[in-house]
Amino acid sequence: MSVTTLVFDAYGTLFDVTAAARRAGADTPALAQVWPTLAGEWRRKQLEYTWLRAITGAHADFAAVTADALDWAMEAAGLSDPALRARLLALYDELDPFPETAEVLGHLKDSGFRLGILSNGTPAMLAAATRAAGITGLFDAVLSVEEVRIYKPHASVYALVERHLGASPQQVLFVSSNGWDIAGAARFGFRTAWVNRAGLPVDRLPQRPMHEIPDLTHLPRLIA
Ligand code: LAC
Repeated sequence: MSVTTLVFDAYGTLFDVTAAARRAGADTPALAQVWPTLAGEWRRKQLEYTWLRAITGAHADFAAVTADALDWAMEAAGLSDPALRARLLALYDELDPFPETAEVLGHLKDSGFRLGILSNGTPAMLAAATRAAGITGLFDAVLSVEEVRIYKPHASVYALVERHLGASPQQVLFVSSNGWDIAGAARFGFRTAWVNRAGLPVDRLPQRPMHEIPDLTHLPRLIA
């Protein structure tokens, strides 16, 4: 069975999650040195909180979890500035897409593939991010975990794809920069492409990625 549908993780895969801290760091003296650490800790805590909320059944949406994680990361960095906090959260709604994102998605769409997003992000966050990047019209479906109110890698999240895009798992190539997300998607039965931009070691989880690529430009050759 061949691939008909490509489904993308959003944050870290299509959108650069470090962009908010980097942009604020360009004109905020207090962030000039520490923005990379802040960005890393913000992301690390954000993901930890999603997993912990999923395990304990204490769901809160990704906007809330993202704000909680930022509060932790700012306090850890010794930053206490409500205006900076508000600015960083606003910037998170218009993260820079990776440079190749729009062109690769447009090419895949023109080649006849169906495209979707499957993300922890809320519908409002995903609408804002895709609008800011000018890529909204390329997707057949933008799917949020909010429909099932539990985070990836819970299987009920990956099941949203067949429900909304009508593709069986074997017809789906799932694309993510997050190794744990790739492992969850592979366990569900999707084909997988891990976008390993940072050259990280593969996660020691039961399912390994089917493909590993350094950026999105390598996708068309995987499904040609
Ligand atoms: C997402 C997170 C995992 O977009 O990056 O779902």
